[in-house]
Amino acid sequence: MAAIVSDKLLDWYDAHARDLPWRARPGEPAPDPYRVWLSEVMLQQTTVAAVKPYFEAFTSRWPKVEALAAAPEEDVMAAWAGLGYYSRARNLVKAARVVAEMGGFPDTEAELRKLPGLGDYTAAAVAAIAFGRRAVVVDANVERVVSRLFSIREPLPGSRKAIRAATDAITPKSRAGDFAQAMMDLGSGICTARDPKCLLCPLERDCRGKAEGDPALLPVKAPK
Ligand code: ADE
Repeated sequence: MAAIVSDKLLDWYDAHARDLPWRARPGEPAPDPYRVWLSEVMLQQTTVAAVKPYFEAFTSRWPKVEALAAAPEEDVMAAWAGLGYYSRARNLVKAARVVAEMGGFPDTEAELRKLPGLGDYTAAAVAAIAFGRRAVVVDANVERVVSRLFSIREPLPGSRKAIRAATDAITPKSRAGDFAQAMMDLGSGICTARDPKCLLCPLERDCRGKAEGDPALLPVKAPK
């Protein structure tokens, strides 16, 4: 089912991708890694709607990573105000300075992972979206989609390994960045937490959770 799922999802993405300011339009080359990285850091604990105006403000004021690297930290902190989780902004400045010093973003997941503030998710997302690398990108949307698709019933967080392995199995060799963003769009618009819109889902017929009748109950979360 692996090839079929990614093909279906990519076809769906080609027709339905959200037009977001950090994405390339269909047919355009991959977006600037700086814009991809900045958006992914902003999106970590913040919704797309809340991020958009901040992303526009940052990229107008600091259009390139070198400009952000040269900015006084307090200016960046002030521009970040309202987004929360301020360690993200401090790491943003640190990483921008390292990248400017290096002459540009490294283009592999392993090297990206070494930059301040880049965790597994962000390094994989930037490698896939900006550099076309095959990387396994797992955020909360992907966890929900994949646990339903494969009917993974072990509770989170114990199921993370199984979810990662299943995501790896369906991630295509090419267009891994589009695939990851398609999974995110599917998770945020269709395969939603409480009320999945299975009739609109391009993967309905591949979905084991749907076949078993209770996709909305997945992923199971361990009691806190
Ligand atoms: N959430 C995190 N990264 C995203 C992206 N690239 N597109 C849409 N939603 C996201």
